[in-house]
Amino acid sequence: MAGKPGFRIARTADLDALVALEERCFAGDRMSRRSYAAALRNPRALLLVIPGDTSLLAAATAFSRADSPAARLYSIAVDPAARGAGLGRRLLQAMETALRRRGAGALRLEVSTGNKSALALYRKSGYGIIGRIARYYEDGSDAWRLEKRLGGGLPRQKRAG
Ligand SMILES: CC(C)(COP(=O)(O)OP(=O)(O)OC[C@H]1O[C@@H](n2cnc3c(N)ncnc32)[C@H](O)[C@@H]1OP(=O)(O)O)[C@@H](O)C(=O)NCCC(=O)NCCS
Repeated sequence: MAGKPGFRIARTADLDALVALEERCFAGDRMSRRSYAAALRNPRALLLVIPGDTSLLAAATAFSRADSPAARLYSIAVDPAARGAGLGRRLLQAMETALRRRGAGALRLEVSTGNKSALALYRKSGYGIIGRIARYYEDGSDAWRLEKRLGGGLPRQKRAG
């Protein structure tokens, strides 16, 4: 592959590859095919992917909400064979930038208290703990709720007329 792999917004044709990546990356609490299909159609969802030569190297899904200035990172995953090379950090930064442009003032997420790699990524990216949720996951593990202020997010100006 020439150069550093870049990211782009996911499209409907990525559905199979998104589901396959999810299966390679998560043992449980997977985002279902139906959820991915719905997210691809949802104007409040933002799906970013890093394509590889034959499959997706990484993907992230976030939702912004009409009633809250905080967006929610629903999923981020890097192919096991591509981890530790900075793709997760790059994708997260791209997501934050895109959400800030859409008016989000903060990004929130939940992560299993035992997920060391994800916690390292989030803490190094400036996320702080704002809560703990008992037995949040299918396997009974607790979640940390994390948040990062995105530094934009002033109320969107109403257009005149
Ligand atoms: C979490 C995940 C997305 C990280 O992706 P990645 O591309 O390997 O992460 P990066 O290479 O960008 O690493 C970002 C930072 O986190 C740290 N980090 C990543 N994995 C780590 C690990 N296993 N142990 C310690 N630190 C780790 C890196 O050291 C790096 O910091 P540095 O640049 O200062 O060294 C990836 O491990 C993954 O897909 N895991 C399975 C799915 C998952 O758990 N998603 C999160 C659900 S909330």
